[in-house]
Amino acid sequence: MELRRLSIYLALFVLVCVSQCTEARSTKYSGEGEDVNYDDVLADEASDDEAQNDADGGNDADEDVEDAIMLTQATNYSVAIGRNVRLECRVSPADGVVVQWTRNNTKYFIGTLKRTEQDLKTYTGQDRFFIAANSTDLLIKDVQPSDSGTYRCEILQMNPPSVEHNIVITESPKVIRFYASDSGRVPEGSDLLLTCEASGSPPPQILWSWDGDNGNHRLTEKDGEFTANSVFIRNVKRQNAGKYYCYVFNTVGNDQAELAVNVLRKPRVHVHRTVVNSDLNVEAVLECSIHDEPASHIRWYKDGRLIEDSSRQYSVSTNGQHSNLTVIPSSDMDFGTFTCEAENNLGKHNRSIELVQRPVVEDFMSEGTKLSWTVHSHQPIEAMELQLRDVNGDEDWRTVSVPVPAGGARRGLPVSFELEAADVGAGKYEVAVKVRNSKGWSQHADPALVDIEAQPEYIRPASVYLPSSAYSIRPSLALLPLIYVLVRF
Ligand SMILES: *[C@@H]1O[C@H](CO)[C@@H](O)[C@H](O)[C@H]1NC(C)=O
Ligand SMILES: *[C@@H]1O[C@H](CO)[C@@H](O)[C@H](O)[C@H]1NC(C)=O
Ligand SMILES: *[C@@H]1O[C@H](CO)[C@@H](O)[C@H](O)[C@H]1NC(C)=O
Ligand SMILES: *[C@@H]1O[C@H](CO)[C@@H](O)[C@H](O)[C@H]1NC(C)=O
Ligand SMILES: *[C@@H]1O[C@H](CO)[C@@H](O)[C@H](O)[C@H]1NC(C)=O
Repeated sequence: MELRRLSIYLALFVLVCVSQCTEARSTKYSGEGEDVNYDDVLADEASDDEAQNDADGGNDADEDVEDAIMLTQATNYSVAIGRNVRLECRVSPADGVVVQWTRNNTKYFIGTLKRTEQDLKTYTGQDRFFIAANSTDLLIKDVQPSDSGTYRCEILQMNPPSVEHNIVITESPKVIRFYASDSGRVPEGSDLLLTCEASGSPPPQILWSWDGDNGNHRLTEKDGEFTANSVFIRNVKRQNAGKYYCYVFNTVGNDQAELAVNVLRKPRVHVHRTVVNSDLNVEAVLECSIHDEPASHIRWYKDGRLIEDSSRQYSVSTNGQHSNLTVIPSSDMDFGTFTCEAENNLGKHNRSIELVQRPVVEDFMSEGTKLSWTVHSHQPIEAMELQLRDVNGDEDWRTVSVPVPAGGARRGLPVSFELEAADVGAGKYEVAVKVRNSKGWSQHADPALVDIEAQPEYIRPASVYLPSSAYSIRPSLALLPLIYVLVRF
């Protein structure tokens, strides 16, 4: 109660003095080393507020006292959050001078008297402001971001000298929350919003980057639209998937956070082989795998009819995004088209596998003048043919039969073959291969291109036929237009 009363009196005094002391004495307060007798002063003013001077006051002895002066220079205080700061206000003479601390015209203290607790609470919400012992310095404990600003220490006298300090609150930046729309699982074609909430003082700047296919790079205006703490990427593509980074920094530190963005698409079904050869009572495994997020539901069809899980004729083994359908055909009817279908909430996709008794040619390719392929046929191979034509002419396909090994080729029969100028003539050829067994001809494999240069026989380089290859046999006769090589078994 006493403090409250004093501060009211003081406030009154200041008002009165500002309006009326203009030509009055130079200082109101004694500089004689004793605490001001506020009660006297205030009682005096309060009971005499019409007076133009202090002639009838009780402090005539102080009239000759010199003006107090401010010794402290304006300073910028950089303070980390949670620390204490002491704002200096050194005056001369050191004793008996009354100072007032204000901030944005809000008075904190006069002399060493705090404003009432309630005033302080309304202003700061807490009681962390003090006058340091035996001084006129302002002590702020447990500094908060809201404490930044300008503080003014003013000597209460005519033409009051003052000093203004700045408090700049510093806080090392911290990423508080870094998040993406759709929790980072974004359907292809939709928009992606990344938000990085960070604390720090001065307010941190944000750098965005992304780990794409070609390493880490900064996100720029080309990649998205930036706002204060977010980036907006329209029409997300598959390529936008990856790790995103939010890097925040200010003058006192930095922080970083990352998150993964997945771009969700309808599934892509991939089959390992599009045509599979088998035979009656020979087990065939049809393999299918699914690409892309999110996980899909996998189904198998035979000639367009769904294969039930309960079917005894087939067994389906699905592990994650891979599925095998195992079939043991017991009649010709059991061959046909098998379809692997995957479905997720963004759509479905399928690929088909032909299960056949005809031979299957795989891996048909050319390397220089060397052709190679693999034949799968559980039934004995009856014929092998190469077909070729000059890509520059419009001649018909030339058919060339290749001698056939005895027996079947259950696990795949690798074949390699060399074309030479002496055999077929120089030129650029398109070459295809066909294989027949008792059930019919294989489908055409995609043609390969072979460029055969005209070369005199006697300087044929050794590299054309590599004797090191265990599977290659150099034919001795140039009579055959083509030469064959058969392998294994
Ligand atoms: C305080 O900082 C401000 C802004 O950075 C600057 O203009 C001013 O000169 C500084 N004052 C002192 C006393 O260093
Ligand atoms: C002090 O005044 C300045 C400028 O008028 C203002 O930006 C700032 O928010 C004020 N501070 C407080 C704590 O009211
Ligand atoms: C304040 O002054 C008193 C008396 O002059 C002294 O006893 C005390 O130690 C001082 N306190 C500080 C913190 O300087
Ligand atoms: C496979 O996909 C095609 C094209 O979308 C569709 O026409 C066909 O019905 C599908 N097949 C099966 C067995 O689902
Ligand atoms: C499918 O079959 C292949 C080859 O037999 C095997 O490596 C793979 O593990 C099988 N996958 C599943 C899901 O059964």
